[in-house]
Amino acid sequence: MKNVFVDSSKAKQFLPNGAVESLKEKVLTAQQELEQGTCPGNDYLGWLHLPSEITPEFIAEIQATSDVLRQECDTIVVAGIGGSYLGARAVIEALGNSFAWLANKGENPNILFAGNNIGEDYLYELTEYLKGCRFGVINISKSGTTTETALAFRLLKKQCEEQRGKETARRVIVAVTDAVRGAARTTADKEGYKSFVIPDNVGGRFSVLTPVGLLPVACAGFDIAELVRGAQDMEKICATAPFEENPAHQYAAVRNALYQAGKKIEILANFQPKLHSMNEWWKQLYGESEGKDKLGIFPAAVDFTTDLHSMGQWIQDGERSIFETVVSVERPAHKLLFPHDEENLDGLNFLEGKRVDEVNKMAELGTCLAHVDGGVPNVRIVMPELNAYYLGQLIYFFELGCGISGRVLGVNPFNQPGVEAYKKNMFALLDKPGYEAESKAIRARLS
Ligand code: PA5
Repeated sequence: MKNVFVDSSKAKQFLPNGAVESLKEKVLTAQQELEQGTCPGNDYLGWLHLPSEITPEFIAEIQATSDVLRQECDTIVVAGIGGSYLGARAVIEALGNSFAWLANKGENPNILFAGNNIGEDYLYELTEYLKGCRFGVINISKSGTTTETALAFRLLKKQCEEQRGKETARRVIVAVTDAVRGAARTTADKEGYKSFVIPDNVGGRFSVLTPVGLLPVACAGFDIAELVRGAQDMEKICATAPFEENPAHQYAAVRNALYQAGKKIEILANFQPKLHSMNEWWKQLYGESEGKDKLGIFPAAVDFTTDLHSMGQWIQDGERSIFETVVSVERPAHKLLFPHDEENLDGLNFLEGKRVDEVNKMAELGTCLAHVDGGVPNVRIVMPELNAYYLGQLIYFFELGCGISGRVLGVNPFNQPGVEAYKKNMFALLDKPGYEAESKAIRARLS
């Protein structure tokens, strides 16, 4: 059986001979540090063997909660930000029919996302839209104190109680949060909501295989057991495969070798629009894990062929500080042929009868060759199919690749001290009690 694998042959040609192999020791040491819990940030290594620790009983518990929400709701709003929503959104969009939400055919509830911005119009329009809906809420916040999520949850809780009554609201609001701390926990316990715990030792961006991701994905009607099985298999592969065949090792090594060779920006590309949010999840995983101590590859992302018509020029011909990592799906789920046209005004009848995916694949190969010719190293991550099993493999591969890569770079991949800076200023500007000194200082700066 095929697994997700990495092909870095078209990246290595940009590197001195043996550059990737020369990082083998560092990669193996990094993995050992993770395994032994001796690296910085070792309080947050719960994700490392999370897949193999997930039991069928735990999956059944999540499934049972999702059954309640699916029975009682036509719309489920997932309130969360960063690691508390990106993974769920990535999986749901990758597995879902791109247009089912428009048709609202009723088989699965619509999954909406909130709590990931402070846009007044967004929140207003959401609350207006929900007026016609039998909606429920999954409130996801590890800290339970995140402003964006707390704001959305206040609005949603109130509206849900008013529209559906307190008793029903209690059944259709579920919390995913810390075991004991934070407002989300306090509210869940006080109101008697069903709740799931985000383990202390799993940071937000590594939490997609906890109920943070699993519950919304199950609510959307997708097979979380398959997702977990894929992650479990990738956990085994990455724990045992030698460096030369280990996808996480190869990815961590090649991207560090490229970084050392001056490639400071990694562009994650897909040729399947359903993977757009997977790009977003990856950007957070790698950006928040590695961008610190004035180091780190800048993670950018594009959807091809769409963005070849906007970013293509820059990638082909701009500053040569980039490399490209393409997530390539081997087989699409559906079959569609390029149609015949009697008049052939566009001159495309030579493609008649070909699978649309064959055209896409040639666009992918042509793009890769053009970009390589233009001086852009290319790494391919190949997924046999876009299904729950292989998404599970991809997720764990990226997580382990990130942990190892961050350690090879020499940073603590599991903290995010830089994220606090904007919050401090925002609270000072909003005169939050306790921020009086910061408030005075920031106002003096602005006057
Ligand atoms: O990766 C992270 O730690 C962050 O992206 C958090 O997930 C995000 O800030 C949300 O935090 P919380 O779950 O505490 O609301």
